[in-house]
Parts: sequence; C-alpha cells; structure tokens
Amino acid sequence: ATANIGVVGLAVMGSNLARNLASREGNTVAVFNRSPERTRTLTTEHPEAGFVASEGYDQFVASLAKPRTAIIMVQAGKGTDAVISELVKRFEPGDIIVDGGNANFHDTIRREAEIAPTGIHFVGAGISGGEEGALNGPSIMPGGSAESYETLGPILASIAAVAEGEPCVTHVGTDGAGHFVKMVHNGIEYADMQLIAEAYDLIRQGTGKSPAEIADIFAEWNTGELESYLIEITAEVLRQVDAATGQPLVDVILDEAGAKGTGAWTVQNALDLGVPVSGIAEAVFARSLSSKRAQREAAADLPGPSTAWTVEEADADAFVEDVRRALYASKIIAYSQGFDEIVAGAEQFGWDIHKGDIAKIWRAGCIIRARFLNRIADAYAEDPGLVALVTAPYFRDAVAGAQDSWRRVVQIAAGAGIPTPAFSSSLAYYDGLRADRLPAALVQGQRDFFGAHTYQRVDKPGVFHTLWSGDRSEIETTPSSH
Ligand code: 6PG
Repeated sequence: ATANIGVVGLAVMGSNLARNLASREGNTVAVFNRSPERTRTLTTEHPEAGFVASEGYDQFVASLAKPRTAIIMVQAGKGTDAVISELVKRFEPGDIIVDGGNANFHDTIRREAEIAPTGIHFVGAGISGGEEGALNGPSIMPGGSAESYETLGPILASIAAVAEGEPCVTHVGTDGAGHFVKMVHNGIEYADMQLIAEAYDLIRQGTGKSPAEIADIFAEWNTGELESYLIEITAEVLRQVDAATGQPLVDVILDEAGAKGTGAWTVQNALDLGVPVSGIAEAVFARSLSSKRAQREAAADLPGPSTAWTVEEADADAFVEDVRRALYASKIIAYSQGFDEIVAGAEQFGWDIHKGDIAKIWRAGCIIRARFLNRIADAYAEDPGLVALVTAPYFRDAVAGAQDSWRRVVQIAAGAGIPTPAFSSSLAYYDGLRADRLPAALVQGQRDFFGAHTYQRVDKPGVFHTLWSGDRSEIETTPSSH
C-alpha cells in the first residue's frame, strides 16, 4: 500500500483530478476505472504522474495506505451507489470515501447515514471548475464528518485553486452540506449565465452590433466590477467564428439550452424551503422554454410589438452602460437569493455553514468565480447575521446606483418584445423586498373568503376571520391549519 489517495472513475474530470493530485508534493495517487483501457490510456499518457494503477477493486483498495482515502468521480446516480458498495465491502473503519460528482445532496445524506454505522467516513464533495479546474485547481465543497476532514482537508487544499493565498476549500458542514452548497453554486451559475445571455441579446437586437463587437464589450466589462470567469468566456464564445460557414459560432449553435439537473434541484429545494430564488428559477425555465421546439414553432407567428425598436447610434454607448448596470444589479439579486437558500438549507438540515467562507472558496477555481465574491465575503465578515445580501451597505449602494438603468432596461425589453425573464424577475424581487405594503394583504383576504384561512391584523395581535357568507362581521379565531 503506497498511495495516500485514490481516484475511481477516470473520465475527463476524474483523470484531471488524479493528475492534479499527482502533481502535488507528497501525493501518490492510486487510479481505477471500470474499463481498464481508460486506466491504461491515462497511465501511458502521463508517466510523470507515477500513478499506481489497478484493474480491480481488490488491487485498488490494497494499493491505498491507511486511512484509505478514495475519491469517486463517476456520473452521479446509480453508478455512484455501485462504486460505493464495492468500496464499503473492502474499506475499514476510519477509511474515507469521497463522492466528488454532482450528487443530489439528499442522496448524499442517505448514503452518509447508511455508511456511518460501518465506521467508514462518507464525504460528499462538490467540485467546481470544469475540466480545467479539476486539472489546475478547482473550488471544493466537502461535507461529511469533521473528523474525516482532518485527513481529507490537507489533501484537498493541496489541489484546490488559490484565492489571495487561501485554498478554495472549506469543510462546509456535515453529511450533504457540501453537495447542497455545490447545488446552489450551480443554480447561481444558471442565473449568471442567463443574465449574461439576456444582456447580449438586448445589445445585439437593440444596437445591431456584431457578436465580435459585443465580445469587445464583454471583454471591457471584465475589467470592472463585473469581472468574472463567465463574462470572460462569454467574450471568447462571441468572438469565435465557425470554420465551416464563416459565421459567428453563436449564430450556428442551435438555440436550445441543455441542463443536467442541478439548476432544477436548486429551484425544487428552494420551493420546499420557501425561499424565493426567482432569478435562478427563471434561468432554469428559460432553458426549458428554449428546448420546447414544437411550442416555439407553433407560437412563432404570435404578434409582437407593433413598432420596431432600435437604439440610435448616438445612444448606443448609454444603452450598453444601462445594460451593464442592469446586469450587475440582477447578478447581486441572484447571489443574494442563492445565499438565502444556503441559510435556509443550513437551518433545515442542521448545518453550521459559514456564508463568508463559502464566498471565499468561490473566489477562484469555480465557474461562478468573480471579483465581487470578495464583497460578499466582506459583507458576511462585517455582519455574520446579515438577513439579505442585497441589504449590506456595498450591495445596497451598488443596486441604488444601478436601479434607474435597470428599470429602463426592463421597460425597453418589455416594449420591444425581447424576453428578459431573469432581468425582469430580479427587479420584481427587488421591488417586492423593499415594498412598504404588498398586495399579499389582498391574497390573505381572498384566502379567508373562500377557505376561512384567517388573517392577522396590522393593528392588534390575534388571528381573525370575517364571516363572509354571514353578516360579514369579524371574529377572533384560532389559526387555520389549511
Ligand atoms: C462546475 C459546473 C459543472 C457542470 C454543470 C453543468 O461547477 O464545474 O457547474 O458542475 O458543468 O453541472 O450543468 P448543466 O449541464 O446543467 O448546465
């Protein structure tokens, strides 16, 4: 037994993670893949890594020094359960199984509970950063026991991305906490991507600028407060020309967005937790809508606005600046909503999640890495009990500075018939949050009318019901459970 860490599952993410581990001082990496060809390819192509390769579970487990630590990098779902059960059969108390896939955190909670009685540690770890991150330094979100983190923490810290001298890994919380936070990360990723896409669409349709010109705008934005990986790659995608047709690549890509499920999970769980993550939800739904080919075709001749919309050449710069500000404000809302879900999840599932630490480990390595995560970390450092990110001084000022632009952009989009679900819903959320009175009072009245669901009053404590079908007098009552 010579390896201090093992990787099971050698598709691109697994191979790259194994290479990353092997490149760090002090690590000897055992590797195993169900089909041995992949293992052979990896070891042949990367002799410098000094991998300890196995062709079966017995050999793999025997190659690991104690406490044995193995990271599973297979497609989330049934495959993961199969690998876990093979490892559990052979591991001993104190050994550590890490699931580094995009597992559903409910599965992680279940698996951890099933494995805990054996004395083996099961750790669900979110790993973000795509293929390149896995190779050069991802952001890692491990859950599981604090005890397992003593062994695992230094290994993960050795391969994680580094932000301002700090490795982008922290013990997020017990059992499924890591995968929960990774899920929310992906939800925010969906919102961020949709917002960027809406910004691009508005600029393109309004000003008629080419994708290459818009690439320059995004590259410019990437030097300011919007600086982030997603803005950076957006410029690259927009600049790409299709070799076959000579067209901008973005114009030949079919406009139907795929999804592997983590965005939908973020929204499903937000609904269960009662947390409005409307920006993320709109982003998930926008992808669904894009893929409804038959409906889109059937609706293609539905009427749009009667007058055409274009931005005058002289106003183009101002319009682009409005869009930039609207994007920043909406992005703040998306992150604010995402952190709300983390807070609610931590409460519901009993995790002690430090929001500031999450912001810190997202500063580098992951897909949503962005300059403004420093601001989020600062906001939670100043006020760990912050009730909504958007109310922290920096974000309050940022949104205040952007809101006129934001409103203009949403107005223009509605008038022009350009769908901006994420921009619009983020603004509606902002206005809902800051509203002095909401029409929820009327909804309560309606509920009381048809279902005697009762209401509370602004002027005195208690629970009340109006005798709607009687003399319409009010009675004090006990709270309705309906
Ligand atoms: C990451 C990404 C990664 C993956 C997404 C893509 O953090 O590295 O989020 O996990 O690329 O799952 O998700 P969709 O296929 O659903 O867009």
